[in-house]
Amino acid sequence: MKKILHIDSSVRRTDQSTESYNSISKAFGRYFIDSWMSKNHQDKVIYRDLGLNPPEFISQEWIAAAFMPEQQRGEKQALVLAQSDLYFEEVAQADVILITAPMYNYGMPAVLKAWFDQIMRVGKTFTFDLARGDFPIEPVLSGKTLVLLTSSGEFGFGAGGVREHMNHLSPHIKELTKYLGVDQFYEIGSEYQEFADDRHTASVEKAKQDIVDLVKQIG
Ligand SMILES: Cc1cc2nc3c(=O)[nH]c(=O)nc-3n(C[C@H](O)[C@H](O)[C@H](O)COP(=O)(O)O)c2cc1C
Repeated sequence: MKKILHIDSSVRRTDQSTESYNSISKAFGRYFIDSWMSKNHQDKVIYRDLGLNPPEFISQEWIAAAFMPEQQRGEKQALVLAQSDLYFEEVAQADVILITAPMYNYGMPAVLKAWFDQIMRVGKTFTFDLARGDFPIEPVLSGKTLVLLTSSGEFGFGAGGVREHMNHLSPHIKELTKYLGVDQFYEIGSEYQEFADDRHTASVEKAKQDIVDLVKQIG
């Protein structure tokens, strides 16, 4: 039995009566989970909608608590780190992490960045040792697969595309997920949402087919 951690991050919902108001990235996430679960009935999914339930921002108190040796922490520090501990445990237990993300201002939504900020913890997610020279940070976790499903309004963000240099969404997430113990990274996305034309329809259809193919491959 595998454990899947499913993280949505669009602030849009999926229950609007006007179809175009609904989140595309969340629909991709649901499509992936439905495809996966139809093959793997026993698997377990932990779900978080960060768009509707945003993580707390880290703070001065959070940093002080996170960098304090565990045995010195009291009730106050435990409380400040409670959300971080919970999110970390969910990541640590997952075999597969599914992140869905819209492109906002050429990067990830603030709620998703806040989630990463909560999870990246010295001594938990990574170790820091200056004996390693110029690259002192190493991940603690390993062996995880990450699937990133995205949606953007413009187009050309992929390799060789006209806006590849403006894509701060997937390269950033890919970089960070190394520190979640991810060694298999897959990315599927649709583009053209703002054009609402045939190119968008084709892009969404292709993404859905790619999701089905990916589940066949790794599910
Ligand atoms: C606040 C905001 C910022 C956005 N910024 C960009 C952007 O920088 N580049 C882009 O291609 N699309 C941008 N878009 C369009 C979204 O990426 C597009 O609507 C996408 O489908 C949103 O994902 P969702 O359908 O899952 O909510 C933006 C949309 C919003 C609401």
